[in-house]
Amino acid sequence: MIEVRDARKWIQNGSRRVDILKGITLTIPAGQFVAIVGASGSGKSTLLGLLAGLDTPSSGEIWLDGVPIHNLAEADLATVRGKKIGFVFQSYQLIQTLTALENVLLPHELNIAGSGLDQARRLLTEVGLNERMDHYPVQLSGGEQQRVALARAFVVEPPIVMADEPTGNLDSTNGHLVLNLLLERNRKAGTTLVLVTHDPEVAAMADRKIVLKDGLVVEDTLPFVASTTDPVAARSDNG
Ligand SMILES: Nc1ncnc2c1ncn2[C@@H]1O[C@H](COP(=O)(O)OP(=O)(O)OP(=O)(O)O)[C@@H](O)[C@H]1O
Ligand SMILES: [Mg+2]
Repeated sequence: MIEVRDARKWIQNGSRRVDILKGITLTIPAGQFVAIVGASGSGKSTLLGLLAGLDTPSSGEIWLDGVPIHNLAEADLATVRGKKIGFVFQSYQLIQTLTALENVLLPHELNIAGSGLDQARRLLTEVGLNERMDHYPVQLSGGEQQRVALARAFVVEPPIVMADEPTGNLDSTNGHLVLNLLLERNRKAGTTLVLVTHDPEVAAMADRKIVLKDGLVVEDTLPFVASTTDPVAARSDNG
């Protein structure tokens, strides 16, 4: 579960303070698929960065499974991030001097004892790259690189996957492929999925859509959670 309490982010630009996020409060239960949408510059990537512990809020709190990550020093933050979160970037962000297999192995080696080789090979096969494992990023297409990035995000079996416009640089065939792999992870493994997207079709597939505008949440649809956590409904279920 992810909890955000009045998170704000500002940047001091000389004597001027630029407010990027102006007070975000939300709870994302485990297993939910959340789409974050909004105009360019509305703060989507900034919010995702805070949720993932890639960046810290200027004020407010971010709790990840009961751990207050807004308070953690970078070394501890890296540990939490490494075990709990798989992150997928629009621009893939693979390490150019490592092969596909080595890229996928990296988070495993940093976070988990023992060899992740079987796991990394299995994941690369799952994303359709069994014949490309020893290729370097420069030898792969954009869609293939993003699939390597997915395998890398999944390798430690993180409970949460976050993706910032993961299909933004891909054609529609590859985009669908990548999206389906993320969805499958959410549905089959119960992985929480927080996805930033410009695509209304993708957002419509989510359990929940959060709309940002000028650093604030202006719309939040939460269709499924209310009834299951409603004590009155729970009582009537019991007879
Ligand atoms: N380091 C920074 N310094 C100054 N302004 C910043 C910085 N990072 C982000 N911003 C500003 O904060 C606002 C939100 O940026 P953010 O990247 O979160 O938007 P976004 O919703 O992800 O946009 P896009 O859809 O274009 O990716 C933008 O106006 C951006 O210019
Ligand atoms: Mg962005």
